Amino acid sequence: MKDELLQVNAMTQDSSPVQPLAGQRELVLRVMPMPADANANGDIFGGWIMAQVDIAGSILPARLSRGRVTTVAVNEFVFKQPVSIGDLLSFYATVTRVGRTSVTVHVEVFAERDPENLHVVKVTEANLTYVAIDREGKPRLVTA
Ligand SMILES: CC(C)(COP(=O)(O)OP(=O)(O)OC[C@H]1O[C@@H](n2cnc3c(N)ncnc32)[C@H](O)[C@@H]1OP(=O)(O)O)[C@@H](O)C(=O)NCCC(=O)NCCS
Repeated sequence: MKDELLQVNAMTQDSSPVQPLAGQRELVLRVMPMPADANANGDIFGGWIMAQVDIAGSILPARLSRGRVTTVAVNEFVFKQPVSIGDLLSFYATVTRVGRTSVTVHVEVFAERDPENLHVVKVTEANLTYVAIDREGKPRLVTA
């Protein structure tokens, strides 16, 4: 938590954002699913969660490569627990590999639920690979 606050402070007080370090987990997104995101069972659609994970996963690769990225592969995706309307979802990302033009990220999703008996559960985790792309959509070097 202290490291995350330091990073937020660094980003707000200095115009040059801090670079994500490989292996360092960072909170990249928080969102609360609404009734429109639920399926017929009343749980949240897996596809909605996948879309949020895709957004969350792209944040460190975009920062690291200083530009546009696109998803090339979802290497693994596990739904461990159902997500409910009103759960506060926190998405943590860790850079696990930096290639020539690609960055692979591990994303973990935690749900904070039941305010009267507050508890946090890991609901989803995934590994995704992003490719840094130029204006024409062609791969570019991550470190360029
Ligand atoms: C991503 C894209 C630009 C890559 O173009 P490409 O000409 O195939 O590029 P390359 O074959 O040189 O691969 C680029 C990088 O992706 C990696 N890569 C390619 N396929 C991969 C896969 N299945 N899993 C993991 N990494 C993969 C390569 O290893 C390479 O990484 P490196 O440079 O770090 O070694 C192109 O495939 C594309 O536009 N795909 C559609 C992306 C998209 O629309 N995503 C949104 C979801 S619909």
